[in-house]
Amino acid sequence: MNVKVLHIDCNKMIREVFRLKLEMTLDCKVFGVSSLSQAIDYLNYNNDVAIIISAHHLPDATSDKLYSYLKKEKPHITFILNSISRQEFINIQAFHNFRFDQSGTSNPPSDEVIFNSSGEENILENVIKIVIGKIKCIQENNTLVTRERDQNDLIKEYCKVGIQYFLRSNVCSCDVFIRLGDNKLIKIINKKELYDGITISKYIKKDIGYLYIPIAEAEFFAEDYEKNLNFFLKDNTLDIEKKIDLQAEAFLYSQERARSIGIDEKVVEQVNACTSSVVEVVSKNKNLFSLIQSMLKKGNYQSEHSLLIAYICGNMALNMSWTSESTIQKMGLAAILHDVLLTQDELAKISNINSNDFKKLDYKNRKIVLDHPFKIAHIVDQEKNMLSDVNEIILTHHELPDGSGFPRGLSSLKISQLSCIFIIAEDFVNNIYFNKFNTELIKKIAVEFKEKYSKGNFRRPLEGFLKSFSIT
Ligand SMILES: [Fe+2]
Ligand SMILES: [Fe+2]
Repeated sequence: MNVKVLHIDCNKMIREVFRLKLEMTLDCKVFGVSSLSQAIDYLNYNNDVAIIISAHHLPDATSDKLYSYLKKEKPHITFILNSISRQEFINIQAFHNFRFDQSGTSNPPSDEVIFNSSGEENILENVIKIVIGKIKCIQENNTLVTRERDQNDLIKEYCKVGIQYFLRSNVCSCDVFIRLGDNKLIKIINKKELYDGITISKYIKKDIGYLYIPIAEAEFFAEDYEKNLNFFLKDNTLDIEKKIDLQAEAFLYSQERARSIGIDEKVVEQVNACTSSVVEVVSKNKNLFSLIQSMLKKGNYQSEHSLLIAYICGNMALNMSWTSESTIQKMGLAAILHDVLLTQDELAKISNINSNDFKKLDYKNRKIVLDHPFKIAHIVDQEKNMLSDVNEIILTHHELPDGSGFPRGLSSLKISQLSCIFIIAEDFVNNIYFNKFNTELIKKIAVEFKEKYSKGNFRRPLEGFLKSFSIT
């Protein structure tokens, strides 16, 4: 039985990986949308959705609005919330009637919530496991279809992959087949041999939705696919707007992956691909003002915040005549990872421990904020493929020139110039993110920064910053 799943997440790469993994593992069809309004539109025209997986923060609403809608209009749909902090979940009225079921026997399967409290759990794999459990449950309730599937012995050794995944590459790590009839597969792509997108497009035009690969190769295929996403960042034919959109998605994907799986070799590979792409755009486009405008989309706070920091650091470094690619790359890596353990935007937004936002926090959250530079720097330090200095930039990203920063309260002479660039860039991003971005705002910030950063190792980075916006 082909179970229909609707996945709502604003990050396209996360949607693609989810879809790939679920469709390869089970007999299901996954549709991805990025917002609540798109989800409701989709549900209005498709009555056969059995499961919804939704992020909590969507560009146009939070998931409780969707949950209320489902309970009223589509109560038969199983809802999986990925993910939310425990406190937020408890506080939201709409979730007070959440349909939990400890026995696991309810029909339709119960709703599920994934909490993001620890930051160390393998969230991505966990969600996939939960969805697989729900789909199996739905399929077991349909014995007729199960029996029918068992007869297809040949097909059982293969899994289906959405055909559009083959447009992302021109070589595949395994043989690829097309299905003709119930029990017949014909090979159309040879393992590791070049194929062209035109052939794939022709199949798409004929309404072929899936191709098949051997189950034994499925895991390698999924891994390869994730790697391939990084190659798009190197695509020189994309215009700046598209490239920045792709970078924002890739930044978010790397952060989500680092959060759910930890900072391993693969994450390092991904963040390196992201930052190389940033280095390329920064070096070719000196007009920082228009680059920033393209990035201020008010989508995901953490990925946009990181992307903006990476761009501003890169531009400041070039204006200080620090033209080495690895310098810009180091700051880009730090930009992606510096707040990666902070799963709540509210905590990531705190830049000063004397602010009211910090003072309002309970003990546990204050500790999370105070400890995050140490913790992330330590994790990054363990990773052998990481460039040097990245851990130091992360460790000092909340220090301030007057010594009032945290975690170490360093003076302006104890902070390296590389870290000073990062601190100024992050301060600037915090100033522009919640205000209307225009030249007046830049002038106002420049006056404040001249006062604040004209000391110690901050002096030269401050000059770089002023030059970036042609301010004398
Ligand atoms: Fe931070
Ligand atoms: Fe930050």
